Amino acid sequence: MTPSTPPKHQWVETEDGSLTLFSEEFQEACHSTSGAVQETKLHYLQGCQIETKILSDDHLSILEVGFGLGIGFLTTYDVLKNQNKPWSFLSLEIDHELLEWFRLQNLEHPFLKNLTWRENILEAKNEMIHLQILCGDARRVLPEFLKSQRLTWNAIYQDAFSPKRNPVLWTKEWFTLLKTYSTATALLSTYSASSSIRKSLLEAGWILHKGEKFGPKRTSTRASLQGETDPDILLQLSRSPATALTDDNLQEILRK
Ligand SMILES: C[S@@+](CC[C@H](N)C(=O)[O-])C[C@H]1O[C@@H](n2cnc3c(N)ncnc32)[C@H](O)[C@@H]1O
Repeated sequence: MTPSTPPKHQWVETEDGSLTLFSEEFQEACHSTSGAVQETKLHYLQGCQIETKILSDDHLSILEVGFGLGIGFLTTYDVLKNQNKPWSFLSLEIDHELLEWFRLQNLEHPFLKNLTWRENILEAKNEMIHLQILCGDARRVLPEFLKSQRLTWNAIYQDAFSPKRNPVLWTKEWFTLLKTYSTATALLSTYSASSSIRKSLLEAGWILHKGEKFGPKRTSTRASLQGETDPDILLQLSRSPATALTDDNLQEILRK
C-alpha cells in the first residue's frame, strides 16, 4: 500500500521496489529511479564504510545533507540497530512539512515513535542512538547549531538534490565547512561525479577517490582527508574546462 503523500511531493516507484519522492519544488526525485534503497546502501553505507566504522571508530557520528523521506536514516538504523555501540545521526532538511509528515508516519516505529520537536530540531534518543534533524536552510542552521556544540563527524552522506537544482549545498565554501568539523578519518560520499563538484571538493581540501557506478551513472565520488587523490581523477579534472562551484560564481556557472 502506498503511504500518505507529503505536501508538494509525488511517489515514484524505483527498480528495487522501494519508493522515493519527487519534489515539485525542486523538480527532482530524491533518489535514482534505479533503486532508492540500493542506491542508499551503495553510496552512503558502503561509501562511508559504516559497518567498519561502527566497530573501529570511538564514536560513529554521521552527518547527512538532506533528510528527504528518511531512507538514509532508516537504512542506517536497520544495519546498526543490533550493534551494541553508540552512534549519532545529524541530518539537515529545509522542508518542515516533510519532517512533520515523517514524524506522523512513524508513530509505531520502535525508535522513531519518540521523535519530538525541540524548537527547529526534530529529535529522538535512546541509550545507543541519537538522531537530530535540523529544520531550515542548511547553510544557515548548521553553522548556527555548531556554535553551541562540540561536534565532529566521521561520515558524511552528501545527498542534496543535484548541483543544478540545489547549488548552495555543493560549493567550495559548503565543503570547507564540512571539512572543518570532520575527524581525520572522516569519509564523505556522494552520488555526484561532476567535474565542477569534484573541483569544489578538491579546493576545499578533500582528497578524492572514485566511487562505484549505480544505474545509468558511470561513477560517483568518495572523499577523505588522508591519502592521495586518485591520479585518474586528477587527469580527468585537468582536462575539464569546468570550474569549482563557489558561493560567488554559482549563478553564473549554472547559467552556462
Ligand atoms: C535528495 S533529497 C534527500 C534524500 C534523503 N537523503 C533520503 O534518503 O530520503 C534532498 C533533500 O534536501 C532538502 N533540501 C534542499 N535544500 C536544502 C537546504 N538548503 N537545506 C536543507 N535541506 C535542503 C530537500 O527538501 C530534500 O528533502
